[in-house]
Amino acid sequence: MEEKLYIFDTTLRDGEQVPGCQLNTVEKIEVARALEELGVDIIEAGFPISSPGDFNSIVEISKAITRPTICALTRAVEKDIDVAADSLKYAKNKRIHTGIGTSFYHITYKLKSNQEEIIERAIAAVKYAKKYVEDVEFYAEDAGRTENEYLARVIEAVIGAGATVVNIPDTTGYCLPHVYGEKIKFLKENVKNIHKAIISTHCHNDLGMATANSMAGILNGARQVEVTMNGIGERAGNTALEEVVMIIKSHKDILLNTSINSKNIFKTSRLVSTFMRMPIQPNKAIVGRNAFAHSSGIHQDGVLKNRESYEIIDPNEVGISESSIVLTARSGRAALSHHLQRLGFTLTTEELNDAYNKFLLLADRKKDINDDDLYVIVGVGRAEQSRTLKLKYLNVACGKSAIPMATVQLIIEGEVCTATASGSGPVDASFNAVRQLITKKVALEEYLVQTVTRGSDDVGKVHVQVENKGNIYYGFSANTDIVTASVEAYIDAISKIH
Ligand code: KIV
Ligand code: ZN
Repeated sequence: MEEKLYIFDTTLRDGEQVPGCQLNTVEKIEVARALEELGVDIIEAGFPISSPGDFNSIVEISKAITRPTICALTRAVEKDIDVAADSLKYAKNKRIHTGIGTSFYHITYKLKSNQEEIIERAIAAVKYAKKYVEDVEFYAEDAGRTENEYLARVIEAVIGAGATVVNIPDTTGYCLPHVYGEKIKFLKENVKNIHKAIISTHCHNDLGMATANSMAGILNGARQVEVTMNGIGERAGNTALEEVVMIIKSHKDILLNTSINSKNIFKTSRLVSTFMRMPIQPNKAIVGRNAFAHSSGIHQDGVLKNRESYEIIDPNEVGISESSIVLTARSGRAALSHHLQRLGFTLTTEELNDAYNKFLLLADRKKDINDDDLYVIVGVGRAEQSRTLKLKYLNVACGKSAIPMATVQLIIEGEVCTATASGSGPVDASFNAVRQLITKKVALEEYLVQTVTRGSDDVGKVHVQVENKGNIYYGFSANTDIVTASVEAYIDAISKIH
């Protein structure tokens, strides 16, 4: 009988801690939605006491996500737990993840405490969190370097206090796989009430052993694994979701299953990489550009005769198609539809026509159309449908020593309205012109431009947040012309105001 392995994704917490990987709320919601679609069981959405931005993101993610449990991280501090409980108020299924350092280094230097006091603080934190939620996970930070006897006492105490999941992090990525596996086995055999909680692994990759350690923990009885997409995370990163999931799927003899729809792995990986500005190394297992590429003649020959000669995973299983259909300006709708379906998008005829027109415009300006471009094409199409305002015409004048000016024509309820304005730059001038045409009072809260690839012919993705009567509305657009994308994203947001 197969048992379930719970997938706890911490891309939005441990992953997002990486310098340069910070996301805004809109992007976090998009990532959380992709993780929900991927099938993760628990989304660790942030560390709410750390910043108002993190707090708000957890609130918004809690509203947007229905199936997975939303988890918020805290220290073993009452104020942290109060804030976490507040951030989770809209979550359908919620978990507080609280904990404290248990290794000699943490207790002596970081916490300036002693082992007995740490146990008391751990119990108090779990009991306090239990007042707010039923599902409380406890982490013993630096458990990897904590001696097993003491760790077992801590774990027994927190399960006694009500912890439903006990997380055994190898915080510094120090453990050898057999040592980490024995640690989990020791807890299974020596903690009297261990059957009342799920043991979780949380392994870092400082010595390149995160996945091996997580697997050792799983093979010795852990039934939750903490992972991030593409293995991003503090320093050398965390255990990669895609690796654990595909190991479990490939090794049927392990007798475990996960709720992950592996066909969504590749697209989720690319989404996270793009949003977090974190390129994936070409030889990264499962999701790297070369993970399923065969370059040597011998390998190619072997694969052509029988794919399994050199492939242990069918690329389709993780959402990568071996298709050699290249998209150019000469491609037809069928080729576009084929690639969109490969990425998981089934469009109606009308949606496909719309996407095809956008594709042709882009293909005229860009040498080759890649998957990122296709995501943008589909995203733009969806955003435009919901618009009640439409951009008909935009002309900007700017340059060194020039006063930036913009003329904008909007179609508002069928009527063409025109305005011209100046500003500090072409985007500011265009937004000022748009504001002249709308009656609603809007405040621009956030404006973000991102590129998808690296070329000067790249598509700019623009996220905008506007505020009206205390409510926030999000707009998105993408275009090789970033001023047009900016104005479209702005009116996309405005058109959502009721
Ligand atoms: O690595 C670690 O110990 C952590 C804990 C906060 C769970 O990220
Ligand atoms: Zn961590």
